[in-house]
Amino acid sequence: MLHSPGTVIGRNCFIGPRFTATNHRVPEIDPNFVPEGVIVEDDVIIGACVTVLAGVTIGKGAKIGMGAVILNDVPAGSVVVGFPAQERDDVWQPTTLGPAYSH
Ligand SMILES: CC(C)(COP(=O)(O)OP(=O)(O)OC[C@H]1O[C@@H](n2cnc3c(N)ncnc32)[C@H](O)[C@@H]1OP(=O)(O)O)[C@@H](O)C(=O)NCCC(=O)NCCS
Repeated sequence: MLHSPGTVIGRNCFIGPRFTATNHRVPEIDPNFVPEGVIVEDDVIIGACVTVLAGVTIGKGAKIGMGAVILNDVPAGSVVVGFPAQERDDVWQPTTLGPAYSH
């Protein structure tokens, strides 16, 4: 997991491999640079290879599909996928998952 100063990870989160939390929204060489952290609230699930823009908050209980690039705050309890990440309420729900997840 790559994350920079200012990143806050809540409790009871699942974070897949190659998660990147950035801390510089518009990179430039600035000796007075102050990192802008990412906040991951409690009970968040993050798939593999997710990248988050500096300053974004991922709300409590949100789920992030693998490969998402998150540019904006993610509402609590939502599912987001893609680049740029967008909410989808028809994936990652109990009714959309296969037999392996039915127990
Ligand atoms: C989101 C996820 C849970 C799949 O949920 P699902 O409900 O079974 O979704 P499906 O495979 O039936 O796909 C439904 C739709 O979502 C899209 N979709 C699924 N996962 C996606 C992803 N990661 N990014 C973008 N779109 C995705 C599919 O293309 C499909 O789109 P369509 O309806 O327009 O054709 C899964 O794809 C995922 O990202 N899992 C995370 C795996 C991971 O990183 N594990 C970490 C430990 S190794």
